Amino acid sequence: EEIFSFTELPSTNRYAIENLQKLPSGSVVWALEQSAGYGRFNREWHSSRGGLWFSIVFKPRLLKDTGYYTKLISVGVAELLQELGCDAAIKWPNDVYVNGRKIAGILTEAVTEGEKLIGVVTGIGINVHNEIPPELSEIAISLKEATTRNYEVGFVLKKLLNKLESLRRKYLQVRMKKYFIRRWKKYLIHKAGDEITVSLPDGKKVTGVIEKINSEHLLLKTGEKTIKITAGEIR
Ligand code: BTN
Repeated sequence: EEIFSFTELPSTNRYAIENLQKLPSGSVVWALEQSAGYGRFNREWHSSRGGLWFSIVFKPRLLKDTGYYTKLISVGVAELLQELGCDAAIKWPNDVYVNGRKIAGILTEAVTEGEKLIGVVTGIGINVHNEIPPELSEIAISLKEATTRNYEVGFVLKKLLNKLESLRRKYLQVRMKKYFIRRWKKYLIHKAGDEITVSLPDGKKVTGVIEKINSEHLLLKTGEKTIKITAGEIR
């Protein structure tokens, strides 16, 4: 695949979405710094030098649901981070955590033209050796902090792209599908039976016991009711 690299962009996701027509499927848009990086729920995403900020463009003839890309990538990121020496786990739906703090975030966006879905852009942000702002130091961590090693950002990118390519090849084989989902589940921090509190996109909070957890939704048993949650954040 082709890598389009920039010293600075407002946001690699934004760039990929705006230039989707020009970018071949599989293209990677990478920026050393983002001035307006964003995450889920349109939250600001700190993207100073030293972190890995990039997006991948997917335009296959048959697009899978966005959960597929996010799941694939979160497993890839978790496995890579484990290989680099930290105990990474996935926090539903797609954050990657180390020692209870967030090390990476993934944002998959569907791109449409009128009614038609024309592509998917997945943005990945990994704190490599970027400075974590003090107000986030309790909830965020970098690879450098987690391993006390200084990995080069380009090295982490290459490694991750290789990993994703081999995961994707495996996943394409039908027999591998179950195995792959098992792998994703293995990395989850929260499992069926755990009691959790989830903030919903409207700000409301619900507490309950996980009945079922998969990449599309979370079934939460709260008292008599079981509710289905498709977007939110586990507190
Ligand atoms: C989240 O945890 O909410 C997702 C964070 C995604 C951040 C990445 S960094 C590269 C790409 N460009 C963006 O503006 N966001 C994503």
